[in-house]
Amino acid sequence: MGRLNGKVAIITGAGSGIGRASSLLFAEEGAQVVVADVNEAAGRDTVQQIQAAGGNALFVEADIRQAAQVEAMVRQTAAAYGKVDILYNNAAIEIRGSATQLSEADWDATMGTNVKGCWLCCKYAIPEMQRAGGGVIINSASTLSYRVADERAAYVASKGAILQLTRSLAMDYSKDKIRANCLVIGPIDTPLLAQSMADSGDAQGVMDWLLDASLLGRLGDPSEVAKVALFLCTPEASFMVGGPIVVDGGMLVH
Ligand SMILES: NC(=O)c1ccc[n+]([C@@H]2O[C@H](COP(=O)([O-])OP(=O)(O)OC[C@H]3O[C@@H](n4cnc5c(N)ncnc54)[C@H](O)[C@@H]3O)[C@@H](O)[C@H]2O)c1
Repeated sequence: MGRLNGKVAIITGAGSGIGRASSLLFAEEGAQVVVADVNEAAGRDTVQQIQAAGGNALFVEADIRQAAQVEAMVRQTAAAYGKVDILYNNAAIEIRGSATQLSEADWDATMGTNVKGCWLCCKYAIPEMQRAGGGVIINSASTLSYRVADERAAYVASKGAILQLTRSLAMDYSKDKIRANCLVIGPIDTPLLAQSMADSGDAQGVMDWLLDASLLGRLGDPSEVAKVALFLCTPEASFMVGGPIVVDGGMLVH
């Protein structure tokens, strides 16, 4: 008996990294998973992996910056599976740059994906959760919601905003039995982190710094975030709401 049997989960950014690992785990635990991504090939690949493992998934191409596409994503989910129980707002981008280095397009792309995209998914999925009598929202924050790294002004600002958006969601929708929490994620071995290190111009230096800052002396695996996300979706997490849940290998201890 899977821990998510009968549950319908939308996972954004499910074509890569933590979103893919979460999709595979949620499907393994019996959920019907909507793999949402702007990258069609990557999303379809995740669906194929889920189906090869005997799970149930549907790919929906959606750019979460676009309201019409998010609305269609939720509509397609309800049409295919009848409801939405879980919304995992995982998709995000990181564009390197200090305040003066960033272009307006960089700023808009980052805030549009990481903050507005999260809000749009909530805006359209929450009414479905209300209809279903409750739900779970998981947002993706970061250790960079609390501390800063150089030349990441837009990303850091966007991840700070996720903490407060999560609290707002918890405040407004707990009465509808919708539990919103966010994951405070440390360095995880994904394409996003690899790109971030490459963009720094000193990938080895950044890696050395990360390994030193992590109390466990290693990067996290995407599956280690997926397992915490899974826990948040189960009744065992019934008293957890509005919180930042730290999954960071000890980065914030320093
Ligand atoms: N990897 C880390 O070290 C780390 C650390 C802290 C926080 N996080 C957070 O974890 C989450 C997942 O990160 P990851 O490392 O797995 O990233 P990733 O780059 O491996 O995957 C992100 C996915 O999001 C998709 N995406 C990007 N823009 C989109 C859009 N507009 N609409 C729909 N999909 C879009 C991409 O196509 C990609 O498949 C992000 O919110 C990230 O900020 C990651």
